[in-house]
Amino acid sequence: MSAETVRAENPVCQLLERQAADYRGWWWVAPPRDAWLETGQGRAISADLAVREAWQAAGRSALSPFAAGSAGDVGTPAGVVLFWPKSHALGEWWLLWLCATLPEGTPLQLVGENQGGIKRVLKVLAALGLGCRKLDSARRCSLFETRLGRVGIDPDAAWTTFDVELDSERLTLASHPGVFGHGKLDDGTRLLIETLSGEGRAPIGLAGDVLDLGCGDGILAAWLARQGARVTAVDVNAFAVEATRRSLAANGLTGEVAESDVYSALDGRIFDAIVSNPPFHQERAIDYGPAARLILDAPAHLRPGGQLVIVANAFLPYPDLLERAFGGFEILADDRRFRVYRAIRR
Ligand SMILES: C[S@@+](CC[C@H](N)C(=O)[O-])C[C@H]1O[C@@H](n2cnc3c(N)ncnc32)[C@H](O)[C@@H]1O
Repeated sequence: MSAETVRAENPVCQLLERQAADYRGWWWVAPPRDAWLETGQGRAISADLAVREAWQAAGRSALSPFAAGSAGDVGTPAGVVLFWPKSHALGEWWLLWLCATLPEGTPLQLVGENQGGIKRVLKVLAALGLGCRKLDSARRCSLFETRLGRVGIDPDAAWTTFDVELDSERLTLASHPGVFGHGKLDDGTRLLIETLSGEGRAPIGLAGDVLDLGCGDGILAAWLARQGARVTAVDVNAFAVEATRRSLAANGLTGEVAESDVYSALDGRIFDAIVSNPPFHQERAIDYGPAARLILDAPAHLRPGGQLVIVANAFLPYPDLLERAFGGFEILADDRRFRVYRAIRR
């Protein structure tokens, strides 16, 4: 397929596609998956490893903000399009990061769905002293333009910590906009930890090499490391990976933490246990893809006798996947909202 024949599918990209703008040498910041973008011009800056791997597979340059912010040789873009994310706090972080990282005066376009709150960027930009004008709107999306300025706010100020109480345990967790849970313990994760620690039954002894898949702020990784497990924690989101590193350090714990699209960074690695509160959302849409890969490929990453323990909303269709992957499973806990499943590799 030639670049000319590839059309934008995502509404925000369709709005960009109809602009007369020359986007050569621009950065696409926090882009959605879209074939028109991935076969076009410029470079992606994304915290999402799956997005970066798709761009790189298409021969395109894609960097995480951590790499783009520290590497000296990435150059400066002719302009930047920021795809306004679902989390406004994360959108604000991207704005502050762009202002801190790129030269003053760099053209900036901001695009997003109206129902996703793109219109709020007017207020955000005004609060930062950045003017703005509307360029276009269509497909229930809007496009604004401005220029980057020196706003004097350190994007790192977005990092915060909070404490969670678990039984007799207290853990300090790092939080950042866009990281799952952002400042509180998820009810499903709490049920998973209570089940593992044996509330009301014998504890599930998770010793040896344990993988926390989809680690978020690192709550499971930190709890498992505190119990003495050798923890590997992975997440597709670069902010989650950094949050987990910070959470382990904040509690004086150690573990290996890496970016990975499900098992993509774990080729050939096997574990005594895999523990997860699997993802089933991608921005606003429900997406069972990563959870299905997590379950179906789990046996290949477990030693014989190794176990997969996951928590999930009771309505999610995981029993079928567990049956297919392991030939059986048990329900360790069920509080009507959430279930904890365990499957053992024979
Ligand atoms: C429900 S949250 C659980 C976070 C944390 N473990 C907890 O219990 O609070 C799911 C996590 O999976 C991550 N995730 C989503 N898609 C992923 C993928 N393809 N590969 C790895 N992690 C993914 C998300 O970024 C999110 O941090």
